[in-house]
Amino acid sequence: MDPRYHVGGAEKLLSPSLLFFKDIIHHNIERMIARAGSPDRLRPHVKTHKTREIVCMQVNAGITKHKCATIAEAEMLAQAGASDILIAYPMVGPNIERFAKLIRIYPESKFSCLVDHPKPLEQLSSALHSAGLSAEVLVDVDIGQHRTGIAVGPEAVKLYEQITRSPGLRPGGLHAYDGHNHQEKLEDRENAVVGPFDAVLEMRVSLMDRGMPVPRVVAGGTPTFPVYHDMHHDGLEFSPGTCVLNDHGYGSKYADLSDFTPAAVLLTRVVSRPAPNRITLDLGHKAVAGDPPAGRRVRMLNLGEYREATHNEEHLVLETPDPVKAEPGDVFYALPTHICPTCALHKFAYVVSEGEVREQWTIASRDRVITI
Ligand SMILES: Cc1ncc(COP(=O)(O)O)c(C=O)c1O
Repeated sequence: MDPRYHVGGAEKLLSPSLLFFKDIIHHNIERMIARAGSPDRLRPHVKTHKTREIVCMQVNAGITKHKCATIAEAEMLAQAGASDILIAYPMVGPNIERFAKLIRIYPESKFSCLVDHPKPLEQLSSALHSAGLSAEVLVDVDIGQHRTGIAVGPEAVKLYEQITRSPGLRPGGLHAYDGHNHQEKLEDRENAVVGPFDAVLEMRVSLMDRGMPVPRVVAGGTPTFPVYHDMHHDGLEFSPGTCVLNDHGYGSKYADLSDFTPAAVLLTRVVSRPAPNRITLDLGHKAVAGDPPAGRRVRMLNLGEYREATHNEEHLVLETPDPVKAEPGDVFYALPTHICPTCALHKFAYVVSEGEVREQWTIASRDRVITI
């Protein structure tokens, strides 16, 4: 097994559990900053780890801007001392009042959010204005993922203009996420980004030509980080999330991102040996993400050849070509294929430094609500 993942005293650790390797997290944060050229060009997404202590590590490394998806993540960021927090999500329903409450309760942090439709924009304006508050709002532009956002064009320009006229709101720029760009070769990702992103940059220029401020363009996740980080435009911010912990999914797919190292590992135990060439682990899909499709959810670190035979809520059954020497109680280690939903399944992570568990960090914003 890779010596970087050695952990002393494993027999005392609960299973299934999440292990964070602190030195590797440091390394990944350093790599993120080195690739960006400066911490000022980064706005990392916290959805991957949802953990105050990792936010503090990023803040200590000079990162002042953060991105999140939920009100709970935004509150966790504020509690961890983040000064500039973008909720990269449209605010609708009760989240509009919750957003206003965040601004009121955490005055030391600056909060912003996304819009892609005139109706919630109006509701947000009215909620903030009537509370005597204000916030920056970014227009979410759809550059091909077709998940949220508004296509670059006259309607998007109209929406941006609406922000400038709305009491309680200030134009905060454009948000362009491209989670659909996961081509294996960097060159293919580059080709996919260039055209749609040029259109975003042109829209920005035309808004500015009409006298509207467009202070920033927030772009991309981990797979397209290497495409954007070579661009130099004022206020361009990169928002990778996964690479701070990295995972087997990205690690095994993107050769150009091999300077990021998986920093999160699952500790699991054999609970049964239903046949000589089968072991059953306590690593069901309530402990490791139920995506990608069954059969590819983990990479075992200390087991040779195997196949994922069944994956239930509390069980992962592995089948091996030859009988394995393993007994109930034996400890195994696995890299999750998808770390972000995996973290959200754990109340805390054991934090390993120099081969020993020295801390436990709460996965604070796995809960949908902290106090707001
Ligand atoms: C809006 C947004 N920005 C950034 C990211 C970060 O992407 P990644 O986890 O690939 O780094 C995500 C991931 O889901 C996202 O939804």
